[in-house]
Amino acid sequence: MSPRPRAIRGMHDILPSETPVWGHIEARLRALMEGYGYAEIRMPILEQTDLFKRSIGEVTDIVEKEMYSFQDRNGDGLTLRPEGTAGCVRACIEHGLLDRPQRLWYQGPMFRHERPQKGRYRQFHQFGVEAFGLPGPDIDLELILLSARLWRELGLQGLELQLNSLGRAEERAVYRERLVAYLQAHATDLDADSRRRLHSNPLRVLDSKNPALADILGGAPRLLDHLGGESRAHFDALCAGLDACGVSYRIEPRLVRGLDYYGLTVFEWVTDRLGAQGTVCAGGRYDGLVAQLGGRPTPAVGFALGLERLVALVREQGLEPPPAAPHLYLVAVGGAAQAQAPRIAESLRDRLPGLRLQVHCGGGGFKSQFKKADRSGAAHALILGEDELERGVAGLKPLRAEGEQIQVPLEDLPAWLRERILGR
Ligand code: HAM
Repeated sequence: MSPRPRAIRGMHDILPSETPVWGHIEARLRALMEGYGYAEIRMPILEQTDLFKRSIGEVTDIVEKEMYSFQDRNGDGLTLRPEGTAGCVRACIEHGLLDRPQRLWYQGPMFRHERPQKGRYRQFHQFGVEAFGLPGPDIDLELILLSARLWRELGLQGLELQLNSLGRAEERAVYRERLVAYLQAHATDLDADSRRRLHSNPLRVLDSKNPALADILGGAPRLLDHLGGESRAHFDALCAGLDACGVSYRIEPRLVRGLDYYGLTVFEWVTDRLGAQGTVCAGGRYDGLVAQLGGRPTPAVGFALGLERLVALVREQGLEPPPAAPHLYLVAVGGAAQAQAPRIAESLRDRLPGLRLQVHCGGGGFKSQFKKADRSGAAHALILGEDELERGVAGLKPLRAEGEQIQVPLEDLPAWLRERILGR
C-alpha cells in the first residue's frame, strides 16, 4: 500500500480548534483597518520570479535560498510569493492606483523555503499594510500607532518596538564604504556567508544572526551617524511623535531588515516570549521601490505581521476568545419530528438573527442525540419528539446548568428564545 499522504514539511493545517483565535485576530485587524481608513487589496499568490528579484534584492536570504520558484508549462519563471509588498506595488502600478495616496492592507499565505522551527514555517500567513504617496514621518507614525493599538486591543504584553533609520541611498553609499573598510579589517573573523556578502551586500552582514560575530558587529560604524539633515529630521520627527503618543521604543542601530528595498525608517516589534523567532511585526519605508518597478516615483511605507507568531503570542498569554458554542442543539426523535425539524429550525433562524442553532443529523434515539448535544457545547437542548409535536410544544433543557426541562408552545418559542437565550 502506498503511504498515507502528509502535509508538506513546514506547511500546516489550521485545525477547527485553532481557527477561532485566528478568526478573532482577523476580525480585530479588519475592524482596525476600517477604523484608520485603509482598503483591502487581494493579489495572486504567484508572481513572476523577476518581480521578487528586482524588489527584495538578489543578494538576500529570501532570493538566494528561500523562494519556491519553478517554470510553468509555458516556460515562464514563476514564484510563490515570499512576501506581499512586491505584489502590492506591482498591482498598484498596473492598475494606475498611485495617482493619489493609497492606504491598503492585505493578508494571506506567503512561502519561504526556510528551515522549519517553532515560529518559522514554509507556508505562513502575513497581514500587511502599505501606504503610498505620503512622504512624511506622520504616516510612519500612524503605522506604528495602529500596530500598537492592535497589541492593546488584543491585550498583549511584552512587545518591544525597535527602530532605526537606513537613511537615503547616497547616505548608505558613504556608510557602505566605511562599513566595508571596517569589516575587511576583521575579514578573517567573519563567517563564509558574511565574507561573501562583504562586497555584494555589506549591510546584510549587520543582519547576521551568527553569535560569533556579535562583538565585531557591535563595534561596526553606525548608519545612524551617517544620516544627512533631512533623513535625521525625518527620524527625529518620528521619535518625537512616538514620545508624544506615549509609545516607547528602542533605537537599534544594527536593525537593517532582510529585504533590500528599505530606506529611512525601519522598525520591528519583537518579543522574548516566543523563543528564537521573536519578530512579530516588521516593516519600514521604501520610497524607491515603485520607480524601481517601473512606476512614477512614489513614497511608500508599510509593515507585515506574521499571523502564526501573533496567534502563538495570544495563546501564550491566555487571551484566546471563549468558544462560540451553539445556543441550542435541536434533538428530534421519531419520523414525524425529524421531518419537521429542518422547517422549525429554519423559521427560528429567520426570526432570530445571531442564533447559533445546531440541528442533529443522522437519526438515533434520545440518549444518543443527547450525548451529541452535550458534546456540541450547546447551552440548551431543544427537544422535538412525537409527544411534543402532538401538543404543539418543544422541550427546552439546560445542558450547562442545573434546571428542569420545560415545555414552550411552538408559537411562543421565538419570543422565549429571544428573551431568555439571546437576552434581547
Ligand atoms: P519580513 O520581515 O520578511 O517583512 O516579514 C514580516 C513578518 O512575517 C516577520 O516579522 C514574521 O512575523 C513573519 N514571517 C516571516 N517569515 C516567516 C516564516 N518563515 N514563518 C513565520 N512567520 C514569518 C516582509 O515580508 C515585508 N514585506 C514587510 C513590509 C511590508 N515592509 C513594508 N511593507
